[in-house]
Amino acid sequence: MKQYLNKRVLRNVIREWKWIFSYIRRYKLTVFVYIFFGLFSSVLAVASSVASKFLIDAVIDKNRDTLYISASAVAVLLVSQTLFQALSSRITVALSTKVGNELRNEIYSTVVRAEWEKIGAFHSGELLNRLEGDVSTVASGIINFIPSVFSKTLTFVLSFAVVLHYDAVMAFLALLSAPFFVFSSRFLVKTIRKFSKQTREMNGKVLSFSEESLRNLQFIKSFDLVSRYIVLFKELTEKYREVRLKYEKFNILMTMVLSLLGIVVSYACYGWAVFRLWQGLITVGTMTLFLQISSTLTNSFSSLASLAPLMISISTGAGRIMEITRFKAESDADRDLAAELLKRSGDGVRIDISGLSFAYEGADANVLNGVGLSVRPGERLGLVGRSGNGKTTLLKLLLGLVRPRSGEMKLSVGDDTINISDSTRRFFSYVPQESTLFSGTVAQNLRIVAPEATDEKLMETLALACMDDFIASQPEGLEYQVGENGDNLSRGQLQRLLIARAVLRNAPVMLLDEATSALDTDTEAKVLGNIIKDDPKKIIILTAHRKSVLEYCTRVCSVTSDGRVEPFRGEQLPEEEASS
Ligand SMILES: Nc1ncnc2c1ncn2[C@@H]1O[C@H](COP(=O)(O)OP(=O)(O)OP(=O)(O)O)[C@@H](O)[C@H]1O
Ligand SMILES: [Mg+2]
Repeated sequence: MKQYLNKRVLRNVIREWKWIFSYIRRYKLTVFVYIFFGLFSSVLAVASSVASKFLIDAVIDKNRDTLYISASAVAVLLVSQTLFQALSSRITVALSTKVGNELRNEIYSTVVRAEWEKIGAFHSGELLNRLEGDVSTVASGIINFIPSVFSKTLTFVLSFAVVLHYDAVMAFLALLSAPFFVFSSRFLVKTIRKFSKQTREMNGKVLSFSEESLRNLQFIKSFDLVSRYIVLFKELTEKYREVRLKYEKFNILMTMVLSLLGIVVSYACYGWAVFRLWQGLITVGTMTLFLQISSTLTNSFSSLASLAPLMISISTGAGRIMEITRFKAESDADRDLAAELLKRSGDGVRIDISGLSFAYEGADANVLNGVGLSVRPGERLGLVGRSGNGKTTLLKLLLGLVRPRSGEMKLSVGDDTINISDSTRRFFSYVPQESTLFSGTVAQNLRIVAPEATDEKLMETLALACMDDFIASQPEGLEYQVGENGDNLSRGQLQRLLIARAVLRNAPVMLLDEATSALDTDTEAKVLGNIIKDDPKKIIILTAHRKSVLEYCTRVCSVTSDGRVEPFRGEQLPEEEASS
């Protein structure tokens, strides 16, 4: 089992690093610049140690010639080191934000392009966590990691070579801590991976909790749950702290072992250097060089070793990003045909559904079962049925948000037919059951679907949705600010804005999902009447629990509890049953 676990971990790490490398390849030049920077500063560091040795020897020997040369060399090297560090940190910021942004943009577009059914299953807080936290870790990993490996290895090799040149025993003393890393590497990789995964996951939970509770603050307050949520949040952050503390405990232990090793190594080197000086085999300058370089050597060795946790946390981040980018993108395969048919759809479209069955992923039972339905241009189809029977699901299928498990859904313009999919969304305008407004002005919300629409056109559409009076009565008019999720509007005003937005989109099929449920019957009558008048060839499919709506339908079907769609035979609607 242990063996298996390790193998699986290793396989994942390899898979994740392959993915990271595909990005490193893309930023070859940037990575190359970083490698060069790293190498150059390593050379500068080692060179200045060597120059100091000559300086000290020159002072002790009272040799003026070498004194001047080595003093100027030390000065020049130190100044260049400082300048170079400033330059490279300036370039680092510029490049790393560039790479971070590009990666973020790419992952954002992959996520929003993915099939809704798959990506919709993730909590939005968790998606945010991956898009922000994990992307930052990976982006800085992409440009920093490989160059660090190079520069740290070079520092190590150079200092080792210098020490080896003067004294072989000293070189091996400086490497005393190596066996510790070799023997414990497996355990270290596994443990660090476990902790870094746990930390990221807990971070996601905290983020999801805050996002969701702040979004539903109104509910929390109205149910008097404020204190309870404060406690829940505290508990969650406490758990996060526990995970972090465990990780930190491990880190502290690691650091302690490392520094103990470092002390042993340093004193061993120190003792050896003093002993050689005592014997008169080395100069004071060489001894200073030894001490300086042996600390560079141990430092570079432990910083090489500390790259391991970094490598693992980058790899964990990559794995978590891969999880949300692995879903197939919506193909938009029939885009051209759809565009062509849409141009010719002036006389309306036809919808033909046959043998349609659908179940949500992971569910045993079908929501819809062998549905057959044809809708002609100008038809207004009412869908009734008990809550949870599948009315909204049928609309989601028409919008290509979820795909049929079996059966066919077609859309026809004249004699030409196209399968309903993500490519045919332009044929539909949709008023969802829940609020889908964005924070911004009324005009901005409407222009999302029709960027070119003039103010007059917007007011005309708002009039059709009986929302013009409200907007006209506001001092800001069309610039009226909509709060998050339309919080500062009444439910009915919100529905009318959603209807106006759908009308503005001007598509051959309109899907109204309980779109007028919050309107009084007079306003509902006006709005529905206006929509029908606006384009008599338009298909309107509306779901409703209220009988008043059905008067505007040319046909009414009911979605049954076993997922069939049957002609509505005038049975009572559930709402009436309840009140009778
Ligand atoms: N994303 C989803 N994942 C899994 N199951 C879902 C999902 N959305 C809906 N369902 C399930 O599918 C069934 C049909 O839901 P749907 O929203 O289509 O009902 P509805 O007829 O529109 O109900 P209502 O009148 O209450 O709006 C329900 O049992 C629901 O639990
Ligand atoms: Mg519904």
